[in-house]
Amino acid sequence: MSASVTLPRMMEIGGGAIARTPDLVKNLNASRVLLITDKTMVQFGYADKVQQLLTQADIESRVYADTIPEPTASSVDEAVQIAKDGGFDCLIALGGGSAIDSAKAIAILAHFGGKMRDYKVPRIVNEQGLPIIAIPTTAGTGSEVTKFTVITDDATDEKMLCVGLGFSPTAAIVDYELTMSLPARITADTGIDALTHAIEAYVSRKASAFSDFNALEAMRLIAPNLRTVYHNGSDTNAREAMMRGATLAGIAFSNASVALVHGMSRPIGAFFHVPHGLSNAMLLPSITAFSIQEAPERYAQCAVAMGLASAADPIDVANTRLVEELAAINQELKVPTLEEFGVTRDNFESVVDTMIEQALASGSPANNPRVPDPEEMKSLYRGLWS
Ligand SMILES: [Fe+2]
Repeated sequence: MSASVTLPRMMEIGGGAIARTPDLVKNLNASRVLLITDKTMVQFGYADKVQQLLTQADIESRVYADTIPEPTASSVDEAVQIAKDGGFDCLIALGGGSAIDSAKAIAILAHFGGKMRDYKVPRIVNEQGLPIIAIPTTAGTGSEVTKFTVITDDATDEKMLCVGLGFSPTAAIVDYELTMSLPARITADTGIDALTHAIEAYVSRKASAFSDFNALEAMRLIAPNLRTVYHNGSDTNAREAMMRGATLAGIAFSNASVALVHGMSRPIGAFFHVPHGLSNAMLLPSITAFSIQEAPERYAQCAVAMGLASAADPIDVANTRLVEELAAINQELKVPTLEEFGVTRDNFESVVDTMIEQALASGSPANNPRVPDPEEMKSLYRGLWS
């Protein structure tokens, strides 16, 4: 059976890659760029740097720096209007997953109109909007190479998963130097997100030889460097490995999908504003333990790729080490419990059934090796309180 693979048309990868931004714009035959970013990127001077590079190459640009973390449908309205009115022929998305996810929504809405909820799954959005050059500044979401965006519906708080070639950036610039000043907390959250992408892509029911190759390499890069970048953010080699690992993990899950962790994580983010990587981290050890029985060899291979076991070790030994390691990472990287994050049990219980509905509607749980029924999902959610 063949595997379907989608990738950006161009990628520029490595330290200093950002300097190639104008060349990529010109390769797209574009001349008027709307740079979608956030205020932190302006403060760090990255937005200025990109704009200077464009100006030096005689490319017109305007900066829109009001994207928000965990973007909502209404949060992209203003930029959609600017993109429509300004005659732009290219978007550059500069920032973490939220800036890139916002740009993906803007690229489609500015071109085709409508509301974001018109574009959520099960619809597959293969229409081509404005071309996007994605420049990630975290080693995490992989959004620079994926055909997904996640936008929250203001009315229902649902984190809508939107899928299709229309959300795949045309180009990606993967420059680890942009991650050197990331604070430890964001480094940890985004790094665990990337590890989750690699593991979920590898155990996904939609995995292929192509996604496996990328997922395993991502685990080999991320696992030994995650603690290092958290404790010592100036370690250049570790930052570079994390960036490459995160992009490879993005390629893996864009082509194999994520599974139960992401499916159950999005509603936690939507209802309690837990950052995406953190809600994944909270769920990853227990959902891995729950799922292993249906794919013990695959999970054991994850343990081997992460350097936790050798191929000669018994499968159950490798799997035990994997679950222990995922819990140990959370402890060392100070991932809070839901309670420590400030969520109350009563509030959680009042929405748990809706969270289960939304998780199932996203389709991600169906990719898991062990597909839970709603009661099992409820006990996995409640497990976050034990
Ligand atoms: Fe993710």
